[in-house]
Order: sequence, then structure tokens, then C-alpha cells
Amino acid sequence: MNMTKLLEVKNLKMYYSTMKGDVKAVDDISFSLEKGESLGLAGESGCGKSSVALALMKLYPSNAKILSGEVLLDGVNLLEMSDEVIRQNIRWKRISIVPQAAMNAFNPVFTIKEQIVEAILTHEDVTEKEAGERTVELLRRVGIDPSRASNYPHEFSGGMKQRAMMAMALSCNPDLIIADEPTTALDVIVQAQVLKEIKTLQEELGLSMILISHDLSVVAETCEKTMIMYAGNIVEDASTLEIFRAALHPYSIGLLGAFPKLTGERKRLESIKGNPPNLLNPPPGCRFHPRCPNAKDLCEVIPPFIQETHKGHRVACHMVNKHPEYR
Ligand SMILES: Nc1ncnc2c1ncn2[C@@H]1O[C@H](COP(=O)(O)OP(=O)(O)O)[C@@H](O)[C@H]1O
Ligand SMILES: [Mg+2]
Repeated sequence: MNMTKLLEVKNLKMYYSTMKGDVKAVDDISFSLEKGESLGLAGESGCGKSSVALALMKLYPSNAKILSGEVLLDGVNLLEMSDEVIRQNIRWKRISIVPQAAMNAFNPVFTIKEQIVEAILTHEDVTEKEAGERTVELLRRVGIDPSRASNYPHEFSGGMKQRAMMAMALSCNPDLIIADEPTTALDVIVQAQVLKEIKTLQEELGLSMILISHDLSVVAETCEKTMIMYAGNIVEDASTLEIFRAALHPYSIGLLGAFPKLTGERKRLESIKGNPPNLLNPPPGCRFHPRCPNAKDLCEVIPPFIQETHKGHRVACHMVNKHPEYR
């Protein structure tokens, strides 16, 4: 067994039941995360990224159902644990999740410090004084002056609220933090500052991190590995460097084409034509085929499996993996 593996997701499938049928939001995905590793999950809006985050922690809404799969944390399957056990032993202490738009979740009638102290006291056997000291230290770490700790949420800017959310997520020393679109609501300059802080914290504390964003540039700035999701499937993953230098899946290449160059000349952005499919009735075969410049007949019929092209790089594409019909 590889001792450094923290999280291993195997064949996870989560659908939402609706009046019109099942929304196939997470459709048989597998991936793993090492201790201390940062993984970016990217893809257009509606491709299932937030659903993955919620499924990992069994935080899904009542119409969601897990059809198959395992979520192994240090080898133990979280999906087999009761909600009660997860709430008491896993959430905050082992895995913290900062859901999309979480910065609006602070309660307006309590100070920021009170809310973080409360989170610590709920999960750990420490005195109020210790929890208070830890809170001030955490706020300092995320770049908030301790003198602001007794402010109310409305006295904080968006960037400060997002930082305070990170402090709260770190308050019980988790091994893994999942941040869903942590900077999407912020303006570009604040976004860059907050991302830099998240990265520094993750490195200093040796945390594992899954950072979710529809914006590939956000992932590029913060994560060692990049995983690309399309229509409920993982279509490619590799080191971030490799994705940016040598992406293989036509969807990844398309996303990169829509990626503004951070340095050098301003390039005309070419986005991929069309939109991700409705996951009630995704296209048969490869779900990307209607938008794919390379699609062949086979792609319309047979869904590709994700396969390693070489060590550490996986792709789900018949054209890349050389389906027997094309050899
Ligand atoms: N509670 C729900 N019931 C039905 N469909 C849902 C529910 N939540 C999300 N969806 C659908 O699941 C798909 C994936 O959504 P989501 O995970 O939020 O994607 P992303 O985070 O990549 O934007 C979308 O088609 C979305 O409309
Ligand atoms: Mg989302």
C-alpha cells in the first residue's frame, strides 16, 4: 500500500433524481490525492465539479443518490459511514469544505471571531480562551489584522470574508481542504492576493487541497495537479505543467485556447463553441463529441474510458488512446 495516499475515489457515481429523470452529474469518476498535494478541478459551469465536492463529504442534497463507488480516506470508505460519524469525526477535523459562495454564509449577528471560536469549540475539547487565541492566530495567518477579529461580517470586504472562511476551514487542523470557487466572487486583484495566500498556507501547513474553479488560470496559479471535468466525467488529468504544455484531450485544449495569457501579448480568446450538455440526457458515446473538432463515428457511439497515456497523465479520448478501430 502506498502510505502517502490520503484520498482515493473509486468509480464514484452520483445522480440527482428529478421529475424529468436522473441528472448524471458525477458519472463514474476515479482519482486520488497524495498527502500535501494540491489538485485543481476545472471545467465549465454545469460539468459536475461542485457535485463531486459534495459527494466526497456526503453533503449532497436529498434528491442525490450514490449509485456506486468508494471515497477512501486513509483507506476507510467515507460513503459507508453514518452522517453522524462523519459530522463528529471527519468534517472539519479531517476534511474541511468551503462550499461555493460560502463567504455569504457568515451569520450577520455574530462577530467573525465568535463564529470561528464556535466552530472550534463544537469540534474540539479546548477552552474558550484557547479557541480565541487560535482564532486570532488563524486570522493573522490568512492576512487579517487581529484588531479586526471582533468585526461583524458586514464590516469585512469580500476578500476578507473569503480569507476568514479559509481561517474557519483550517480551525480544526484538517488534512484536506476542499475550496469550491473560492475567489470567483472577488475582483481580479483581490482574487490574485487571496489565491497567493491560499497557496502559501497550503504549502506551509502541508495540507492536501482540492481547489475547484471554472477558470483554468486559477487552478494554474495554485495547484500542482490539474483534473479536467466535462459533463460528469473526468476527461484528463496530469501535472499542471503538463496540462499547460501538452494537454491531449480536445476539451482541455479548447479550454486552454480560452485561457488568457498572463504574460506577453493579449491574445484573442477562442472559446469552444456551444455549451456543456444537459446531464438529464447527455449525448451517447463520448459526451464531448458534439463539440469536438476530431470526432469520428465511433465517438458518437462508444464512451471512451480514461486511460494512462504515460505515467501520471490520464486521458479519456478514443483518438488519443488509439481505439482498435483506428490503429
Ligand atoms: N439538487 C440538484 N438537483 C438536480 N440537478 C442538480 C442539483 N444540483 C446540481 N444539479 C445539476 O447537476 C449538474 C452539475 O452541477 P454542479 O455540480 O453544480 O456543476 P459545476 O459545479 O461544475 O458548475 C448541473 O447540470 C446541475 O444543474
Ligand atoms: Mg460549482
